[in-house]
Amino acid sequence: MEFPLTRHLLKAEIHCHIEGAAPPALAARQAEKYGVDTSDILREGAYVWSDFSEFLVCYDRVASLFRTDEDYALLTESYLTELAGENTIYSEIIVSPDHGDRIGLGADAYIAGISEGIRRAREKTGIEARIIVTGERHFGPESVIAAAKYAARGKNPLVTGFNMAGEERMGRVSDYAPAFDIAREAGLGLTIHAGEVCGPFSVADALDLVRPARIGHGVRAVEDPELVARLRDLGTVLEVCPGSNIALGVYPDFGSHPLRRLKQAGVRVCLNSDDPPFFHTSLAREYQIALETMGLSEQEIDGMTRTALEAAFVDEEPRGRLL
Ligand code: ADE
Ligand code: ZN
Repeated sequence: MEFPLTRHLLKAEIHCHIEGAAPPALAARQAEKYGVDTSDILREGAYVWSDFSEFLVCYDRVASLFRTDEDYALLTESYLTELAGENTIYSEIIVSPDHGDRIGLGADAYIAGISEGIRRAREKTGIEARIIVTGERHFGPESVIAAAKYAARGKNPLVTGFNMAGEERMGRVSDYAPAFDIAREAGLGLTIHAGEVCGPFSVADALDLVRPARIGHGVRAVEDPELVARLRDLGTVLEVCPGSNIALGVYPDFGSHPLRRLKQAGVRVCLNSDDPPFFHTSLAREYQIALETMGLSEQEIDGMTRTALEAAFVDEEPRGRLL
């Protein structure tokens, strides 16, 4: 897909899940390689799911098709190389050690493969990337705590943050708060998926109990003006993923998406692709839609790229160079 109107704009994203970046054609090749029947989740070159729950099942199935460090290196390298081709200079990749464990690869080899993919893409294109270790909420508090402990060991310098993704409707943030205490103590940047499928209470819980610098999505905070003011005053950055929200039915169309309203209320927001091929999108498409359909100017879009880089969980070098 080409998006010429925003071709010249520098881009950055801080919210893309690694397995969510796997194009269906690559997933199909992986399925063939490992002799897996994927007819229920892959049809006519597209992923098949109809709501958020089914999306999460489909995501976990796709993850199970990547089984070696080299599989992950190739996936990461191809995602970042394509992103660099859209004039993107930075990406933060959300990875879940549980997915490595579940296919018997193990967390170390899983992260090593992703790191190798980052290294190859950087060498080819100059793109910078960091890794955000995430716990999957639907795997339960114990597994999220284990993911935090893993991230906190600090074995890999590319791992700079901790996140929680998955089924937001499962449990309350308080069940998972100990994981974030571990990650905070280890000096990792904190972000959490909240206010995507659940309402403002989920964002308020995240602010109260996790105190994150950023929130994944967070868009449903718009339903509570006091919460919007709180996000503005705290300077919390919302990693907004409009195409994902439309595909998952959080909003019916881009016209009713709250990105612009949140921005106008003074909340710090940036654009992200989340799981691009699952949602028939790309970062370049998100930029183009912001410009063409959501009424944001080029200057405002540049401002969101700057926000992403300012909020990135990355050291002064390369942040200073990128900004
Ligand atoms: N994992 C991958 N994409 C996700 C999303 N949009 N929300 C929650 N968990 C996810
Ligand atoms: Zn996400």
